[in-house]
Amino acid sequence: MSKEIVVSGIRSTGHLHLGNYFGAIQNYVKMQDAYDCYFFVADYHSLTTHPDPKALKPSVFRVLAENIASGLDPEKVALYAQSDVPEIPELYLMLNMLAYKGELEKVPTFKDKVRLHPENVNAGLLTYPVLMAADILIHRAVKVPVGKDQEQHLEMARNFAERFNSRYGEFFPEPQVFRFNSETVKIMSLDGTGKMSKSENVNATIYLSDTDEDIRKKIMKAKTDQGPAEPNAAMPDYIQNLFVLMSVTSGPETIARFTDAYNSCNIRYGDMKKQLAEDMVAFVAPIRDHAAEQQRDEATLRKILKTGAEKARESAAVTIAGARKLIGINYY
Ligand code: TYM
Repeated sequence: MSKEIVVSGIRSTGHLHLGNYFGAIQNYVKMQDAYDCYFFVADYHSLTTHPDPKALKPSVFRVLAENIASGLDPEKVALYAQSDVPEIPELYLMLNMLAYKGELEKVPTFKDKVRLHPENVNAGLLTYPVLMAADILIHRAVKVPVGKDQEQHLEMARNFAERFNSRYGEFFPEPQVFRFNSETVKIMSLDGTGKMSKSENVNATIYLSDTDEDIRKKIMKAKTDQGPAEPNAAMPDYIQNLFVLMSVTSGPETIARFTDAYNSCNIRYGDMKKQLAEDMVAFVAPIRDHAAEQQRDEATLRKILKTGAEKARESAAVTIAGARKLIGINYY
């Protein structure tokens, strides 16, 4: 039986952080044996914010190296740069004819960008979800491992697939968000103001490239409070976030100890943060060091990108030929 197809991507706009790791990469690694996986660096998507051309290549190579250092095996999955697969922009163009200005303007991530950067509301930003749909539909994927912030984009990809199918004939499966446990992960920033991010909240975001000292400093500065006033109180979201981070990096006894301390109003956040900082250092350091080593070996990274692109283009060509035929673009 053929394996189910999986697609996911990460923008090359900065350093990867724990949100990227626990929201996405960790699932990629767990999926690589049982599924037919296509994972890519979304370099075209990063162009919406006009990155310095000199910075683009190092960013793409860093994302690639950090994925490999996190356990992704380029022998098992297609690992490629979005811009190496020209069939993606071709499908993007086709899907743009089925996407409406009104619905694109309503997307929360678009509205956020307009609010934060009113000087750069370009058409690429508006049609960002269409390009993302093309990334997924180009391989006719059924499962897409992403964090909570991408759920709305996935819903739009399903809408575009459904619109294509009803206009031209059944062709695209409707891709679904995938995760191993039912909760979609959202890693908040340590200051309790929004999510960990590649470009915002940098002092409250832990990056896979952070030094041990950076990690300790950031965690010790994480927002806490006086502690709960009564037993078994509900946790404020910034405290919950520390427990989420602990649950992914610390051992079960440690988690149980601090959960009990919280529930019995005996928690000392200083001790909790000290423990979390050490467990986090032990978690991040091997990934950081392995990624740095990978980045020094550019020849190997180039080879991985090339092989990944060949595999991705093979699958993409079949989809484009099918889509062209259904649309009526088959003149020869
Ligand atoms: P990007 O590059 O912002 O993030 C990559 C992945 O990391 C997840 N993520 C988080 N998860 C939990 N907590 C956080 N704080 C956090 N921050 C980021 C994201 O959900 C994502 O899974 N538009 C996408 C890239 C993309 C894509 C695609 C993804 C382009 N085409 C096709 C899937 C399929 C993005 O900007 O992700």
